[in-house]
Amino acid sequence: MTKKDKIVYQIYPKSYLDTNHDGWGDMQGVIRRLDYLQELGINYIWFNPMVVSPQRDNGYDVADYRSFDPRYGTMEDFEELAREAKKRGIDIMFDMVFNHTSTEHEWFKRALNGEEKYKNYYIWKKGKGPGVPPNNWQSKFAGSAWEYVEKFDEWYLHLFDVTQADLNWENPEVRKECADIVNFWRSKGVHGFRFDVINLISKRGYDDDPNNFDGRQFYTDGPREHEFLKELNRSSFGQDEEHLTVGEMSSTTIENCVQYAGADSDELDMVFSFHHLKVDYKNQKKWELQDVDFMALKKLLNTWQVKMQEADAWNALFWNCHDQPRSVSRFGNDKEYRRESAKMIAAALHMMRGTPYVYQGEEIGMPNAYFTSIDEYVDVESTNIYKVLLAEGKSEEEVLHILQERSRDNARTPMPWDDSENGGFSDVKPWLKSADSYKEINVKNELADPDSIFAFYQKLIRMRKEMPLVQEGLFVPMLEDHEKVFAYQRVLGNETLICLNNFFNEETEAELDPEGYEIVLANYKDAALDKVTKLRPYETIIAIRK
Ligand code: GLC
Ligand code: CA
Repeated sequence: MTKKDKIVYQIYPKSYLDTNHDGWGDMQGVIRRLDYLQELGINYIWFNPMVVSPQRDNGYDVADYRSFDPRYGTMEDFEELAREAKKRGIDIMFDMVFNHTSTEHEWFKRALNGEEKYKNYYIWKKGKGPGVPPNNWQSKFAGSAWEYVEKFDEWYLHLFDVTQADLNWENPEVRKECADIVNFWRSKGVHGFRFDVINLISKRGYDDDPNNFDGRQFYTDGPREHEFLKELNRSSFGQDEEHLTVGEMSSTTIENCVQYAGADSDELDMVFSFHHLKVDYKNQKKWELQDVDFMALKKLLNTWQVKMQEADAWNALFWNCHDQPRSVSRFGNDKEYRRESAKMIAAALHMMRGTPYVYQGEEIGMPNAYFTSIDEYVDVESTNIYKVLLAEGKSEEEVLHILQERSRDNARTPMPWDDSENGGFSDVKPWLKSADSYKEINVKNELADPDSIFAFYQKLIRMRKEMPLVQEGLFVPMLEDHEKVFAYQRVLGNETLICLNNFFNEETEAELDPEGYEIVLANYKDAALDKVTKLRPYETIIAIRK
């Protein structure tokens, strides 16, 4: 199966490289960096949406699924990009946002106009009374998930921003439209697809959430979810011999994921799940901080690895994306041990079973943005929650601290290419401020260092592409009760790989049988394995026995 030797690099195009001086990244900018990506060794690029959008949610509010926002470029730019990428052995994955459209989409406008056909593309309900929404569900970006439209005396559902109206997947016409969109991009040569929050499309009724929570139990992994995905597969990408599909699964379960990404289930190739990225949420709440619960993290990683493997299903492996704070700031130490911890976090992920995703800037150990004023934030989620948390009585200082740890803008700052103004991203003011760290942490500095984080990623990526052991090996947890080390084996035939990772700032020891192992990659120079192996702060060791 082709997915097993793939490494996907995620580009947030708005923040990659601006070539026409408007402060926005563009496709020509990506073309200029294809050599860089080829050098890194990745073989797929996932692009966040570049289609027409009012940008309330940076492209996840789609107004036209088939045309590029001119700020990114034209169809010709895209064709050039795809051609140039292909020359370098790189394929393209596009982001399909099918749970909702922008309220600027023609379908929604026609719905508002009273055209019954298009009204049925969305989800409308009567309120419980004057000014009272149909139920108590909360939008993921704060506030009620319903918006009133006086003309119809009805409310439409929006699980995200008020300008992102949920599509009605019960309507076969909607399902056909979505398949047609995938087919449109297939006809343009795109065979990789990431499906945005795709496990929210099948709703399980519209009752009040009895727990007064946000309502997610009614729309997560809903009753017709698998049926819809099988249908989409059959009517679009499933017809391609070679394709790479990944579903973003919000608050999902392993039981569902073994079907979403099962070898024979004809749904998707793999899934993003997020439980391992909630281990620093206090009481499961994103906006309440706590230190990483390392034992919970280990347990989640091990469980998802083992259970998906047992069911012959496939994980997407990731620490970072455009919705998550930077992993080196979160799981490592972005000050004294930035290099060591960035490498360790990478090794821990890349040797697991699944398909690794590298998010732009991760390969140079980019830290969080650490903005100090609310005016520096752009993300609608951050600006909304800022108001909510202040209204709840938190101090400004506290709220800004929370955003420094949790805001999605931490991941979205311009890619720092060098130490010139705006990190060389643009010669005009970028749409989102550059993180101050660009003066020191940038691609130019990284590439000048033979012991760089970038070079370490190159090695991990090469191992995945070249070694069946990494692609196919059985995942076996090790040292499960160790409080500082996340470790596992991969086993194939008579070859065994071990990957040892100290997730802490201090030295620790790990007991194991080192007999016959040879170290193939480590983040400290004189790494050694012993019956009692000493691991320095954030030390990682990968070793193989043949
Ligand atoms: C996904 C996207 C996120 C977006 C949301 C709504 O979670 O990754 O960026 O805001 O869906 O489309
Ligand atoms: Ca531009």
